[in-house]
Amino acid sequence: MSRFKAVIFDLDGVITDTAHYHYLAWKELAESQGVHFDHEFNERLKGIDRMGSLDLILASAAHQRQYTPEEKLALADTKNKHYQELISTMSSKDLLPGAVEALDTVRRAGLRIGLASVSKNAFTVLERLGITDKFDYVVDAATIARGKPDPEIFLKAARELGVAPADCLGVEDAVAGVTAIKAAGMFALGIGHPFVLTEADVVITSLKEFNLAAY
Ligand code: BG6
Ligand code: MG
Repeated sequence: MSRFKAVIFDLDGVITDTAHYHYLAWKELAESQGVHFDHEFNERLKGIDRMGSLDLILASAAHQRQYTPEEKLALADTKNKHYQELISTMSSKDLLPGAVEALDTVRRAGLRIGLASVSKNAFTVLERLGITDKFDYVVDAATIARGKPDPEIFLKAARELGVAPADCLGVEDAVAGVTAIKAAGMFALGIGHPFVLTEADVVITSLKEFNLAAY
């Protein structure tokens, strides 16, 4: 039914719409620093870890003042607290259409299932969604040295699942994430728009269109 032996999913924006919550929390933080923040800017932050995202925001500030490491940590913490507030009421109703069906299809086909999210809140989100036990392996973002677009997180997931990268299908909504999948030597399924996710092997609008046999 599939030429792959494992499917490795991203979380935010693929399985659940936390990408929107990250957007809201970053927007408030950016504007508190006088930085204009819109959906176009947000696209560049998708898949980028917390401190990396903050650096991109501060680098685009008109005032260009230097922030101390302590100030940066405090700003990142403010954003994270806001984000955690936004996700605190999440439940299985926040699963994106087609997500559970896709996971169940992969399971029925006998493939291994991994999760590769650079979010340090990923375990909490999975718990709230009630889908933790659907994964054979979830990468702990705290153990990753280099975030996406580096392939490290996808390579770690493949290694822990005991599957060669070439036998893995990676699923991502972020430009940086698709780059990471391709750099890992995997097949990249993009969730979003083909003119944004130009490096992906195949792009679909949402997991509702997930068709394992077709890739
Ligand atoms: C990624 C999101 O999954 O996780 C990014 O796409 C986010 O927007 C990143 O910044 C880090 O998340 P967290 O929860 O560790 O701040
Ligand atoms: Mg994502």
